[in-house]
Amino acid sequence: MTDLATLELDLINAIGGAESVAALEEVRVAALGKSGSVSGLLKGMGAMSPDERREQGPMINGLRDRVAAAIAARKAELEAAELDARLQAERVDLTLPARPRRKGGVHPTMQVMDEMIALFAEMGFAVAEGPDIEDDFHNFTALNFPPKHPAREMHDTFFLKPDPETGERKVLRTHTSPVQVRTMMSQKPPIRIIAPGRTFRKDSDATHTPMFHQIEGLVIDRDIHMGHLKTTLQTFIARFFELDEVQARFRPHHFPFTEPSAEMDIRCDRSGGKLVFNTGDDWLEILGCGMVHPNVLKNCGIDPDEYQGFAFGMGVDRLAMLKYGVPDLRPMFDADTRWLAHYGFSAFAAPNPASGLS
Ligand code: DAH
Repeated sequence: MTDLATLELDLINAIGGAESVAALEEVRVAALGKSGSVSGLLKGMGAMSPDERREQGPMINGLRDRVAAAIAARKAELEAAELDARLQAERVDLTLPARPRRKGGVHPTMQVMDEMIALFAEMGFAVAEGPDIEDDFHNFTALNFPPKHPAREMHDTFFLKPDPETGERKVLRTHTSPVQVRTMMSQKPPIRIIAPGRTFRKDSDATHTPMFHQIEGLVIDRDIHMGHLKTTLQTFIARFFELDEVQARFRPHHFPFTEPSAEMDIRCDRSGGKLVFNTGDDWLEILGCGMVHPNVLKNCGIDPDEYQGFAFGMGVDRLAMLKYGVPDLRPMFDADTRWLAHYGFSAFAAPNPASGLS
């Protein structure tokens, strides 16, 4: 075999034996690179006599062409194999991941409070606040509860230990009505406020917890009458329950701080085990309300001959239960995250009257 034939055989074997593009490149450089074996032969032609060149030239050029073609063919083969291997090994997962379960959430009581604040804000009410620990004056006396009157007991009050110096016993506020007193004593009429907040009474069963939430409302201005009260509350309750209107009745009641006083009921049907509003012969008690008692106005430094007002108070948790079908009040305050995962609301959907309440 000639040297050229041996060289060609060796190179073809090396090309065939190259197992990767990188190994093949080494073979190429060794043959066709600057100082490669085939390149050396091509350079050598310059020193040949014309006859030698005529004889050797086609053989060397032919060798170069075949080696180059073999390298190109092997390279295509190796690249295809490499691509195949990558396609086998790599995977693109085109499925969407499941939505992560919401962790935490807005408690129905807070959701409902936000809904109420949004609705009353549209009617021009500002939010007022007061302390959870109240004194007897704001919680009872200024609200026209007579001293030693059983009405004070009626509220199942939590009393704090008496102050060693004054003997005064503070209370955990039994209702949000003391915020009325604080507002009237610090602002001049016209007044239009709501006061949402925590309240406390010694009571515990399926519909009572020692801590619960109320929202209070107060309007003081000239020439205020029951008509204003009725329209305000009917409008509010209809919007709260997302109804066009509510069939309401105002049933006479007694509260020391209002005269006359009433409880507002709405017509409902509970016969099918489900609560449906505006049909049937049943009435659902919703809230307490009335015209602010002249004594309360006087106690707060407002002249009852010049100003009148109406007030109302309702249980926020109870309305949350009614609106969102929560059967038992007590688990609302057990801080069980499973309960919240079930009944809670997204923190990213704050209620507002434009985009909807819930
Ligand atoms: N404070 C009352 C209660 O806790 C609720 C209430 C009734 C508030 C009538 C009012 C009102 O302002 O006018 O039972």
